[in-house]
Formats: sequence, structure tokens, C-alpha cells
Amino acid sequence: MSAPGGSVPPGAPGGVTLRRMRWWDIEPVLALEHRLFPEDAWSAGMFWSELAHARGPAATRHYTVAEAGGAVAGYAGLAAAADGTADVQTIAAAPEHQGTGLGSRLLTDLLTAATAFECHQVLLEVRVDNPRAQRLYERFGFAPVGLRRGYYQPGNVDALVMRREHTGAPVHHPSDRARN
Ligand SMILES: CC(C)(COP(=O)(O)OP(=O)(O)OC[C@H]1O[C@@H](n2cnc3c(N)ncnc32)[C@H](O)[C@@H]1OP(=O)(O)O)[C@@H](O)C(=O)NCCC(=O)NCCS
Repeated sequence: MSAPGGSVPPGAPGGVTLRRMRWWDIEPVLALEHRLFPEDAWSAGMFWSELAHARGPAATRHYTVAEAGGAVAGYAGLAAAADGTADVQTIAAAPEHQGTGLGSRLLTDLLTAATAFECHQVLLEVRVDNPRAQRLYERFGFAPVGLRRGYYQPGNVDALVMRREHTGAPVHHPSDRARN
């Protein structure tokens, strides 16, 4: 189901718009979640629990959904802790939208939220066998800081922990490769 009254603004890259995730997005987001993470997909309850902390002045979560033609094209979420650390909880682009800059747009959105939460660092875990995601994070200034053995179950795959020092400066969208 899509948001009521949503329309694609002219000039939205690839006709894909970003907006805050709401409860009615959980069902289509879960469908994509199961396509992309068949081994360890989040449950509906996990998304409900995250969204419960994503609204109001005491919010500690920021969840975004990308929409194209009324369908979910991607999603991403961030958690902020009182110590000024933010964690990228999830980020995903539908296979048909990968390589179009959508992952970069979603990550930019999360980092902007980290600034709004006044976080000074952003952490994430990524599978060691996911070089594409690692390259995305590196482009945004994340660097490896550790390894969590067997973090991803049931496959027993290690997680690379990556960290970005977060200055709060506006996040540059590094989609143009010439700068890298
Ligand atoms: C990781 C993921 C979110 C990246 O999303 P994405 O939309 O493909 O990301 P981008 O398009 O911004 O960047 C991906 C590649 O496309 C390139 N790209 C970006 N914009 C582009 C454009 N307009 N034209 C051509 N290529 C472009 C990027 O340079 C990048 O190249 P690289 O992989 O060689 O480094 C996506 O692959 C995904 O959802 N994977 C499955 C789920 C997953 O692994 N999530 C991460 C869990 S930690």
C-alpha cells in the first residue's frame, strides 16, 4: 500500500521519492526484506517496534521508505542513542533500483537524520561477504573498526563493524564518482 496522496515531484531521480516510513509500509517493506535477506529477514514485529520509536519529540529512530510508481523501491532506518552514537539499522534497495544511486540517497537521508539527532558518530555492521554495501559505506566516509564473529545467523557469517565520525556538516551526496 502506498501513502495516501503521494505524488512524484518532477525531477525526483528515477521517479523515486523518499518519505518517512509509516505502519502501512510494513507489509510491502517486508516483502522486499524477504527478497533481499532471505536467511535473516526482520519480522513484522521488529519493524513495528522500530516505528513505535520513530515519532514524537522523544523519537530515537528514523525510518525512510523510497517509493516508485506506488511500489516500495527501498528503505532504510537509523537508531540514535543518548551517548551520541547512531546505528544504521537497515538499508536496502530493490534489485531493479540498485546501481541507480538509491542506496546513496537513502544513506544521505540517514546521515542527515543523525545530524538532527546530534550524533557525533555513526556505526554499522555489514556482512564481510557484501563488498557492494561496504563500498557504499566507504564512499560516505565509513572505515572498518572491528569484526563480529558469527554475527549473522544461521549462516554464521562475520560482520565488519564500520564507523563514521559525524561532524554534523551537511552530508555531501558522493554519487559522482569523479570526486572519489
Ligand atoms: C547495498 C545497497 C543498499 C546499495 O544500493 P544501490 O542503490 O545499489 O547503491 P548506489 O546505486 O548508490 O551505489 C551502488 C553502485 O552504483 C553506482 N551508481 C550510483 N549511482 C549511479 C548512477 N546514476 N549510474 C550508474 N551507477 C551508479 C555506485 O557508484 C555504486 O558502484 P559500486 O557498487 O561499483 O561501488 C544495495 O545493493 C542493496 O540493497 N543490497 C541488498 C541489501 C543489502 O546488502 N543491504 C546492506 C546491508 S548492510
